Amino acid sequence: MIIDESFPWDSWRDHPAVQQPEYPDSEHLRQVTEKLRKRPPLVFAGEADDLRAQMAEAGRGEAFVLMGGDCAETFEGSTADQIRMKIQTLLQMAVVLTYGASMPVVKVGRIAGQYAKPRSSDTETRDGVTLPSYRGDAVNDYAFTAEGRTPDPERLLDTYQHSAGSLNLIRAFTKGGYADLRRVHTWNAGFTKNPAYSRYEALAKEINRAVRFMEAAGADFEGLKVVDLYSSHEALLLEYEAAMTRIDSRSGDLYNTSGHFLWIGERTRQPEGAHVEILREVRNPIGVKVGPNAQPDDLYRLIEKLNPDGEEGRLTFITRMGADKIRDVLPPLVDAVQRDGRPVVWLTDPMHGNTIKTSSGYKTRDFETIMDEVNGFFSVLAEKNESPAGMHIELTGDDVTEVIGGAENLDELRLKDKYETLVDPRLNHQQSLEMAFRVAQLLRDYQESRQ
Ligand code: PEP
Ligand code: CO
Repeated sequence: MIIDESFPWDSWRDHPAVQQPEYPDSEHLRQVTEKLRKRPPLVFAGEADDLRAQMAEAGRGEAFVLMGGDCAETFEGSTADQIRMKIQTLLQMAVVLTYGASMPVVKVGRIAGQYAKPRSSDTETRDGVTLPSYRGDAVNDYAFTAEGRTPDPERLLDTYQHSAGSLNLIRAFTKGGYADLRRVHTWNAGFTKNPAYSRYEALAKEINRAVRFMEAAGADFEGLKVVDLYSSHEALLLEYEAAMTRIDSRSGDLYNTSGHFLWIGERTRQPEGAHVEILREVRNPIGVKVGPNAQPDDLYRLIEKLNPDGEEGRLTFITRMGADKIRDVLPPLVDAVQRDGRPVVWLTDPMHGNTIKTSSGYKTRDFETIMDEVNGFFSVLAEKNESPAGMHIELTGDDVTEVIGGAENLDELRLKDKYETLVDPRLNHQQSLEMAFRVAQLLRDYQESRQ
């Protein structure tokens, strides 16, 4: 291994690292990371700085963050159509939320890099055969064969390639006119035409009037054709993240150039662990998932490590408590952070604490339970005088059947129709829009209660 002074941020190697693949050939891994270190950055320091500033605005209650995308992206699913539909879904949601919040919406995809997954078990057993668990396309193949499940370092190069291709498409779509507000608004009009969603028609009509008002008042729609859509993923694979960490030539600072926003998962957030260490030195805005067992002291230690100077927008806590727990476990954590005094951006992940298994064996989530956690999040933060700064959700732009409920009453029997996720169940296109309408109403009530 070359661990020399040219990579000063390799300090994570001295810390315990959980959830890492066991590669059979460490020399092969070394060759791959050497190649990766020479590849151009996928995102740029200035973009990460812009996002950090926008996260700071959200933390102050001046913007709302919409972070969403697949639980696990796949190489096969990184097609132009699927990426376009995901972007379209995020843009459609953002228009509704912008109206509800009367604030800018910061748009961040779980996209262009979300190819690695932490797993609760290292192995999977089927019919008496035990093999390594699937850890995402960045690590191994979903196919249940010894060859498929063996971690292959070449997949890190494929991860880079697919991330670069996706980012290229995102940049083209968001800078090339596709994101035109009027066009996005027309897509939303199609949604409320469906009788199942008639309860959202009043709000949709209001948005329509607002767009027409803007038009009449001579708003610069040309300027609104260009939007920023940032990329985020879980910083899980330490060798990959280290290889993509670079010194910015302008400032001399370190940046993780694999994505604008990186988060540390619930399973890897040990304050003395390698994942915290690898993001400690980079200037990107970063997040940490916080589950129901987190203690005030854990959060304090994370702040101390990840944002010692209390820079606004640098550190986000993404709470994923479960709808039945959030109202009990979140208040003391918010109190602890307030006592500490250093600013934190609070986002809700209403997905990961609410996963259930049906009797037929499907992993699913119930739309109403998801909304219940969002409601709980808003009420706890409002009570504590803290901004509910945004949400982090798992969604796809396609019409999959993975989450039950919603106005179309997707029931358990329909899960089998189009269940495509390899890991966690995602909101489909319609459910995502419905969620945007519901949260827009919450945001509006929240704003009115503050006036
Ligand atoms: C995820 O975001 O897909 C995930 C695994 O979340 P968590 O770390 O919160 O369990
Ligand atoms: Co997930």
